[in-house]
Amino acid sequence: MKVNKAVFPAAGLGTRLLPITKSIPKEMLVLVDKPLIQYGVEECMCADITDIIIITGRGKTAIEDYFDRSIEHEILLKEKGKHHLLKSVDEISSRISLTYTRQKEALGLGHAILCAQNMVGEEPFAVVLSDDIIDSDTPVMKQMVDIYKNFRYSVLAVQRVKDEDVSKYGIISGKEIEKGLYAVEDLVEKPELKDAPSNLAIIGRYILMPDIFNFLKDTKPGKGGEIQLTDAIKSLLQIQPVYALEFEGNRYDGGNKLDLLKAQIIYGLKNDEIRSGLTEFIKKSEWCRN
Ligand code: UTP
Repeated sequence: MKVNKAVFPAAGLGTRLLPITKSIPKEMLVLVDKPLIQYGVEECMCADITDIIIITGRGKTAIEDYFDRSIEHEILLKEKGKHHLLKSVDEISSRISLTYTRQKEALGLGHAILCAQNMVGEEPFAVVLSDDIIDSDTPVMKQMVDIYKNFRYSVLAVQRVKDEDVSKYGIISGKEIEKGLYAVEDLVEKPELKDAPSNLAIIGRYILMPDIFNFLKDTKPGKGGEIQLTDAIKSLLQIQPVYALEFEGNRYDGGNKLDLLKAQIIYGLKNDEIRSGLTEFIKKSEWCRN
């Protein structure tokens, strides 16, 4: 069955980006001119996934407002003949179907995904953590859907990380069956380096079989007292294959201040409107040389 739906967990507390996340959801932080979540939605659209399910929580109404039609802006822009801006304001919402559900308490990523069970039903589905910003020639979700079409089982996005970073991620071990594609053999959530089975870290893009929900229901709180998705995938692996794709692209952690700033520069340099001004600013800046 084709992947039609994508779940966007967006109910986390964003503590690493405090104080801004007191009132602005992390997923609504701006990257050049659009919120992080929009990049994730556009990535799904490129993979022909247009049913978007967003898991929100307290203080996240800005996400729903953002994807609503903004009649006031539409009227104003029409009056002023600014048709190109009009397109940027309402195009996305007219091309996708959006539904929202709430995670009442931030009990972890696994729990957030479980909140989408009724909306997903018995279909394979994508999961996008929009704070993982991935700059790639082929959108990562498209790369993953292409693998899914061949294997018809869950696919995880993975990336090699430095030794000092393995304890921040879910880590897989697996057998490389094609260049950059692994049949997963084991998964561990945030291991110490000495216990890590490899340096292949799971990044925030997944295609999951609906069987995952049965395991999520039974998963007890793990690392950090949260219901960990990695633990449920480890159980899923006992009944069916799981694949991991070392995707093509550069990833920036939008929940980390330095990475978010790096992404601003990279995406800024790709933006026609500001590229030359930004390049000039970087080249001339004395602060770069000290
Ligand atoms: P993170 O751990 O990166 O997000 O979760 P966080 O908890 O918001 O951030 P910090 O660590 O406190 O700074 C990854 C994704 O899972 C979602 C988050 O919104 C983010 O998109 N998430 C996490 C939930 O939806 N619910 C949760 O209970 C936890």
